[in-house]
Amino acid sequence: MKQFISVQDAGNINTLVEQALIYKANPLKDKALGAGKRIGLLFLNPSLRTRLSTQVAAANLGMDAIVFNIDKEGWALEFEEGAIMSGSTVEHIKDAAPVLGSYFDILCIRTFPSLKNREDDYSELYITQFIKYCGVPVISLESATLHPLQSLTDVITITECQRLKAKSQKPKIVLTWAPHVKPLPQCVANSFSQWINTWDKADFVITHPEDYELKEEFIKGATITYNQDEALKNADFVYVKNWSTYKDYGKIYENDPRWMLTEDKLVLTNNAKVMHCLPVRRNVELSDEVLDSANSIVTQQAANRVWAAQAVISEILKS
Ligand code: CP
Repeated sequence: MKQFISVQDAGNINTLVEQALIYKANPLKDKALGAGKRIGLLFLNPSLRTRLSTQVAAANLGMDAIVFNIDKEGWALEFEEGAIMSGSTVEHIKDAAPVLGSYFDILCIRTFPSLKNREDDYSELYITQFIKYCGVPVISLESATLHPLQSLTDVITITECQRLKAKSQKPKIVLTWAPHVKPLPQCVANSFSQWINTWDKADFVITHPEDYELKEEFIKGATITYNQDEALKNADFVYVKNWSTYKDYGKIYENDPRWMLTEDKLVLTNNAKVMHCLPVRRNVELSDEVLDSANSIVTQQAANRVWAAQAVISEILKS
């Protein structure tokens, strides 16, 4: 594996899931693999799970991890080719990225969309420029449009739950939009859709209000419906997530609180496991009753972030 920025870099998803579960059973089995190597974690926006789980994963592999909140502690970066840097930006990515690459064996980067200019965000300008100029393998810690470590974690968690059920038939997985107080990126929804469709081991339904359609390339293969109750019927897994509009980019249109997942709605499902990437707005996206119930697997999901990161880092170290 040369980089990890989308499902296309994952190779065989099931192999990667198995590797993650091997690490979950025996976290230090490859402690020597990363000895003497250094991993840099660059953040352009806040994080709890991604930051700490990746640090733990790197330590399990014997690596030194250094975190840099580049947006707060670094010089303001310029990404535009040919920019006349007479404004607020201090350092061009062309100059900063090779320096960062010289300090680290692997660079991990969390960028973020502007939610103002769709073309810029969907061109993945920031992470693409880091990859172009840093000269070492790059792992996405969430980019403008995708969150692949989260999605790998989600597939790992679904696989674990399915094994406990010992059922061979495909689970029904529902991704449902939920209300929120501010416009959020489409990253998690795009990425989850991309991974579940590529994995191809589930009946996959996406439900959201009108105007919240995701970009076609990510949802190909899923059933799309505006009827949340219909979607939830017999679901085995319900993934709850807000996202802002893609078409009229970065807006909140409909924000009907009836889209919040509550116990009443869970009754429609096949006693579904409830997923969310966290952080979650309680009693806005998901009710307390659901989050605090046995159906919720959000903590298991977040804990599995370590094993997803460890599987990916180890694949890059091995190659
Ligand atoms: N799910 C997730 O990426 O969480 P953080 O933003 O806390 O890293």
